[in-house]
Amino acid sequence: MDLKVENGCIKEDKGLGWGKSLPVQSVQEIVRNGYQSVPERYIQEIKDRPSSISSESLQASLQIPIIDFSLLAKGDEHETRKLDLACKEWGFFQIRNHGVQVKILQKMKAAMAAFFELPLMEKKKFAMGANDLEGYGQAYVVSEEQKLDWCDLVALKTLPLEQRNLNFWPLNLPGFKEAVEEYSIEVQKVAEEINANLSILMGMERDGLKRHQGELKQLMRMNYYPPCSSPDLVVGVSPHSDGGSLTVLLQDDDIIGLQIKHKGEWIPVKPIPNALVVNIGDAIEIMSNGVYKSIEHQAITNEKKARISAAAFAHVDDELEIGPLDSMVDDPHRPPMYKKIKYIDYIRQVLARKMDGKAHTDLVKIQT
Ligand code: OGA
Ligand code: NI
Repeated sequence: MDLKVENGCIKEDKGLGWGKSLPVQSVQEIVRNGYQSVPERYIQEIKDRPSSISSESLQASLQIPIIDFSLLAKGDEHETRKLDLACKEWGFFQIRNHGVQVKILQKMKAAMAAFFELPLMEKKKFAMGANDLEGYGQAYVVSEEQKLDWCDLVALKTLPLEQRNLNFWPLNLPGFKEAVEEYSIEVQKVAEEINANLSILMGMERDGLKRHQGELKQLMRMNYYPPCSSPDLVVGVSPHSDGGSLTVLLQDDDIIGLQIKHKGEWIPVKPIPNALVVNIGDAIEIMSNGVYKSIEHQAITNEKKARISAAAFAHVDDELEIGPLDSMVDDPHRPPMYKKIKYIDYIRQVLARKMDGKAHTDLVKIQT
């Protein structure tokens, strides 16, 4: 167990209990200190290097579904069908009219920017403990040899409110707590409404997924991707799929970074001002018996501007077992494609390995 000394008292670091990541240097600090060339540990193997954004991929980006959330919330049939197709064919979509006020989005962005602007010594007060993944640092560093992502992050348990570990929160940063709290509550309402719609699409009542997932929890991962002198050599976040139920991503309005794998190609998710990006996580892929797809994605960097994003991961109750839902299984036509597993065991497996595309859902796939 990790102990933190704060204001003269020792605090017990309860953390997530999901796994750990080895401490590595801050990338923002490498950039702040000036560097001649990209350090070796960040230079990806040739096969893993991102390709630059082509005009074809930008064209394909226009096909990523855009859903009007206000219609979804009203039960509009056409929009619900669009959601169904988006989750089947893309696993990713953008939402407009999501009801989260622009002011709240802006405050959240400003709070993140202010946090990362702090001097390193200040941020280190909130550093991840040796045995956990909550706090300031980098995630998924499991060996001294692995290549590193060009990214710093702070991960905070945001919901339910009583499960926050405020010793990881920069409480002396004006407005930070208020902004994150307000945004996280609003964005969870969005995730819950989408889950209610997916429940109906999966042949259940609106609260169907809730009954199988428990009260959704939320982990907020705030990413800071510094500019890089050779963006073609590094990745911001390595290809991975998200382990949870749903992810809602807030990204900069004017910088392209996120890319998703679609039909074997990397397609950028071009930001739409004030929209949110939603993607299906592994838990819903498993529960939907593979009908809804948790898609591989990555983030790339650029030469000029730092990019900041907030991924709000909606998580299933740790102790619940996830597996294909009865309504999604129809033996022998559609037999279960995944084994049942306790959610926390799944997440621990995911987090104990270097991010590696879709390798995690493969761990629970029933081989046919
Ligand atoms: C993540 C993620 C993408 C981005 O944090 O899981 O995929 O654009 N982030 O920051
Ligand atoms: Ni992700």
